[in-house]
Amino acid sequence: MRQESPTAQSGFRIGLHEFRHGLSLAPMAGNTNLAYRRLCRRFGAELTTTEMVSSKALVHGDGKSLQYLEKGEEENPVAAQVFGMEPEILAGAAPQVEAKGFHILDLNIGCPVPKITGCGGGSALLKDPELAADCVRAMKESTSLPVTVKIRAGWDDDNKNAPSFAEEMQEAGVSAITVHGRTREQKYKGTADLDLIRRVVESVSIPVLGNGDILDLDSAKRMFETTGCAGLAIGRGALGRPWIFRDIAAWLSGETPPPEPDLRERAELLLELGRGITQLYGEDRGMKIMRRLAPDFFKGVEGAPLLRGRCNSLESWADLEELAATFGPDSSL
Ligand SMILES: Cc1cc2nc3c(=O)[nH]c(=O)nc-3n(C[C@H](O)[C@H](O)[C@H](O)COP(=O)(O)O)c2cc1C
Repeated sequence: MRQESPTAQSGFRIGLHEFRHGLSLAPMAGNTNLAYRRLCRRFGAELTTTEMVSSKALVHGDGKSLQYLEKGEEENPVAAQVFGMEPEILAGAAPQVEAKGFHILDLNIGCPVPKITGCGGGSALLKDPELAADCVRAMKESTSLPVTVKIRAGWDDDNKNAPSFAEEMQEAGVSAITVHGRTREQKYKGTADLDLIRRVVESVSIPVLGNGDILDLDSAKRMFETTGCAGLAIGRGALGRPWIFRDIAAWLSGETPPPEPDLRERAELLLELGRGITQLYGEDRGMKIMRRLAPDFFKGVEGAPLLRGRCNSLESWADLEELAATFGPDSSL
């Protein structure tokens, strides 16, 4: 059945890459590994991004950081996100990202964690637009990849400088900007300021991806309608619910979104993710990662607290299968 979509989605480009509806999976440390990105892409995420990687660690050839830059053959386009605040180090990291086959290079200007901001990186760069612009220029000079930035509304309530900051980033040559509508001070509390995101959209001519609190179709509509953004970056709303991309894409195409996956389908998705994680990291480490990722699949499921508790004791693939079976086809829930 066709349904009217009130937004005029005309698509946009980042470099040579064309986006029809611009639904992207926001970078999330510990979550947006290759297996998770694959799942979201299967459900219609047009752009996915790695979790943030230290530019310094890349330059020093740190093996663990290189692991974060695992890329799938079929991932196209996929962005790698780096953090750092030293233009020459970022310039050194950029060619490595390009050599790994990534299509877009994103600079993190949103991380609120003191370990990062204390050194001047992440959201601390919001306080120094000139340095941020130098970082972008240095990255652009050392790679042919389009460079994008992910920013927050500002440092705190008194310094919500995202619109002017975005202009400076555009001037420095970024191809797109993702804006999380919270300040650094808010971290993840309160709500994202959609009016502020709208002001960013109005202040630049490059594509802006709205980010923050998109948890379902209604909040996606609100983001598009209030801000006029070109696309969306979805973080927590995609955790355990990768079909959020399918629902929004259907609405944007004027279709009625399909019904929510039932328990059996959710169990299958959990196993699909577990399989991917195990292939990437092996069973031991994979199940440790699944202890963190599996609980999100029980959002809204009856008996969720009990099931979440059981995630903590995942040790083996057999444990994961058993867990999936409890809310899968033969579930007693
Ligand atoms: C667990 C977690 C890890 C995150 N890691 C990153 C990261 O590596 N890089 C980044 O730019 N943002 C990171 N973020 C922020 C998200 O990309 C996003 O901006 C934020 O969660 C708000 O969007 P949401 O309401 O859709 O989740 C992280 C968020 C969470 C919850």
